[in-house]
Amino acid sequence: MPYYRVVGEVPRKRHVQFRRPDGGLYAEELMGEEGFSSDSSLLYHRYLPTAIIKAEAVEPSAASVLTPNLPLSPRHFRTQDLPAGGDLVTGRGLLAGNADVRMSYVATEAPSELYRNSMGDECVYIASGRVVFESTYGVLEAGEGDYVVVPTGTIHRWVPRGRVTAFVIEAAGHIRPPKRYLSKYGQFLEHAPYCERDLRTPQEPLTVEGEEVPVLVRTRGGLTRLVYRNHPFDVVGWDGCLYPYAFNINDFEPIVKGIHAPPPVHQTFEGPNFVICSFCPRPLDFHPEAVPIPYNHHNVDSDELMFYAGGDYSARKGSGIDVGSISLHPAGFTHGPQPGAVEAVIDAVRQGHTRTNELAVMVDTFRPLDLGPAGLSVEDPAYAWTWAR
Ligand SMILES: [Fe+2]
Repeated sequence: MPYYRVVGEVPRKRHVQFRRPDGGLYAEELMGEEGFSSDSSLLYHRYLPTAIIKAEAVEPSAASVLTPNLPLSPRHFRTQDLPAGGDLVTGRGLLAGNADVRMSYVATEAPSELYRNSMGDECVYIASGRVVFESTYGVLEAGEGDYVVVPTGTIHRWVPRGRVTAFVIEAAGHIRPPKRYLSKYGQFLEHAPYCERDLRTPQEPLTVEGEEVPVLVRTRGGLTRLVYRNHPFDVVGWDGCLYPYAFNINDFEPIVKGIHAPPPVHQTFEGPNFVICSFCPRPLDFHPEAVPIPYNHHNVDSDELMFYAGGDYSARKGSGIDVGSISLHPAGFTHGPQPGAVEAVIDAVRQGHTRTNELAVMVDTFRPLDLGPAGLSVEDPAYAWTWAR
């Protein structure tokens, strides 16, 4: 995030001596993207962030195996039917993924252990419930509709307050606001559907004393459990432009046109070879002859995965799609409204219907998505034929 923040105590200049009350030195750590050439933060630790005492391999799980979408078909996965279990890290049921991004669903009440994803940023969309996100940068309280964006390498854990469900997007790279929303120096521009004031960031340091603390680390090679000599939540202050933040989908200000606008107006974030869009409650297209739902479309370069988070989906009526559903419309297949949906919405507008209350998170990928075991376990096999009924 190109938005400077300072939390807790930091020395007046970077890379100078900064002493604890007992006279010892704090340990300075740079968390930086793209080598030393992009956004970064400086963190000041009570203990050495390098002091590990053990490394244990963690067995890969069969639940992370992906299979190609063959024979090619549109898919409907019912996350409503997935079992609860694990925690917000280990309980992720893989829905779909490729080399750029993986999408999962999780339902749980259990706190996670400390976790660091060193493969890329994560964007965790809280579909229901409340959860505390604890990290080396401090705490974020998150709830329904929040996207929590976690930079690569952030040591953190999730502590639910009761049952939480989440749609998890794991990138093989960085997740950022779209470039076209930002000035050349990184400030949100006036036409952007959200801005700095909408982003919630940690407000104070979080320090926890402890010894021999395990951290689950995800790398391209697999999972390792590193044991730290001291608790990694020992940062007394940090500053910079790289940190976790929360953004609520209801703070996304929809862009509305007279005639139907395509999904780029809903874009919220971009990642390596994918985008994340938010479909929010909004007035329907208002041209007197508008067809206020999507036209049939074939995005020849992308697969489109949609998580239906709330509201009604008039374009999908009769398809079996409901809140909690995931649809996957792959390249190679033209998708669009269900039969009769266009006529029905035109009629509804004639009778005074002026708004849609749909709420959905969409991930469009620029390389094909393979299918995950959790998705396949709750697939509605009739979905592919619902346009022909
Ligand atoms: Fe679409």
